[in-house]
Amino acid sequence: MAEAPKKLSELIALSDAFLARCKIPNPRVVSELLAARLFKCGRLDLYRYADTVPDTRVVDALRRGVQRVAKGEPVQYVLGQWDFRKLTLKVDRRALIPRPETEQLVDLVLKSAQAKQAGKPLVVDVGTGTGCIILSLASEMRDGVFVGLDLSPDALSLARENAALTGLEGRVMFAESDGCGEFDPASVDVLVSNPPYIPSHVVDGLEPHIRDHEPRMALDGGADGLDIYRSLLLDAVMVLKPGGGVFLEIGDEQGPAMREMLEEYGFADVSVIRDYSGKDRFAVGTQSV
Ligand SMILES: C[S@@+](CC[C@H](N)C(=O)[O-])C[C@H]1O[C@@H](n2cnc3c(N)ncnc32)[C@H](O)[C@@H]1O
Repeated sequence: MAEAPKKLSELIALSDAFLARCKIPNPRVVSELLAARLFKCGRLDLYRYADTVPDTRVVDALRRGVQRVAKGEPVQYVLGQWDFRKLTLKVDRRALIPRPETEQLVDLVLKSAQAKQAGKPLVVDVGTGTGCIILSLASEMRDGVFVGLDLSPDALSLARENAALTGLEGRVMFAESDGCGEFDPASVDVLVSNPPYIPSHVVDGLEPHIRDHEPRMALDGGADGLDIYRSLLLDAVMVLKPGGGVFLEIGDEQGPAMREMLEEYGFADVSVIRDYSGKDRFAVGTQSV
């Protein structure tokens, strides 16, 4: 006998129970996110469709999405988009999924004297990934010259697509680069970066939905997770203007080492800042005058 058609609320409950059995974290939220995407509404607006009986194409699409998540793919890649601050960005395997704490890194830059100065500050984002940081800065800062760099051509192609999607393609330039040493000496006002900072041995033990799906190049920071900061700060010393600022996202156990490194490289006003969950997450400093 054919299965009776189900209401959306029942489909979500079934998906929730199935994903829970597969040990997927937050199965209810994941199920609602998938359903909301198919209904083209916000997750909190789903209640309006609770009694709707979706047609078979929608049910099949929901089933396919649930199965991909059940096999370990991050829900963000299944959705194909994710919100970061005021922007909705395309996300896929080419780059890291933007994390909520990185939104706070953008705030630190926006509140800085370097970003608020008159004229057009040169703002450089190293390891741009989806472009989330530099696109947000370009959309939220009054004026500036905005450049996103990445070693990964795949990430750069996604960042360029996001610039077009958000209408910011005329305001941000993207280029392939290892670090940011190609700029003229003392030319950059703001250097911001959320580089790969997870120690290699920790990457191997990450949850499969991260380890097996997000690019290793976006995660692996070498033996102690600090490899990229060592070279990035040398570039920063060369390219930052006197008084220019460096704004870094860091691992929650890297605060003391980063403070020491920034001071060793001659930065002033060094501070390590916590994220909203109370963990060391950012390190900032000013190029000495
Ligand atoms: C942790 S992801 C951050 C992506 C994005 N900025 C974000 O916050 O979501 C780090 C990025 O740095 C890039 N990357 C790794 N090594 C690099 C290097 N030596 N120079 C430039 N980019 C690099 C990776 O390809 C990846 O896109």
